[in-house]
Amino acid sequence: PTISFVHPDGKSDRVETSDGESAMQVATRHGFDGILAECGGNAMCATCHVYVDENWIARLPAMAEDEDALLDGTAAARLPNSRLSCQIRITPDLDGLVLKLPERQV
Ligand code: FES
Repeated sequence: PTISFVHPDGKSDRVETSDGESAMQVATRHGFDGILAECGGNAMCATCHVYVDENWIARLPAMAEDEDALLDGTAAARLPNSRLSCQIRITPDLDGLVLKLPERQV
């Protein structure tokens, strides 16, 4: 599946992913500054915060309680389309997913 990251300056990158990778792993593999992922994907840091494109938000699996709780502590404002990218597992049906990177993670 191919997904896109939109950077805070409006530029976007379309990148290839492998099935089963998390969106956080894809972003860090490409060295995108917008994702810190301090806890390494364990749903403990909230520095992998992303805004999911409106067209996609309903198509992602529901978030778990720990993700919901962590999103209350993000550096950039939590919005209705906020998610933790380490908890977004890429599957074939997410081909075309668009994630916006927040201004800051800390
Ligand atoms: Fe830490 Fe996602 S990488 S919560």
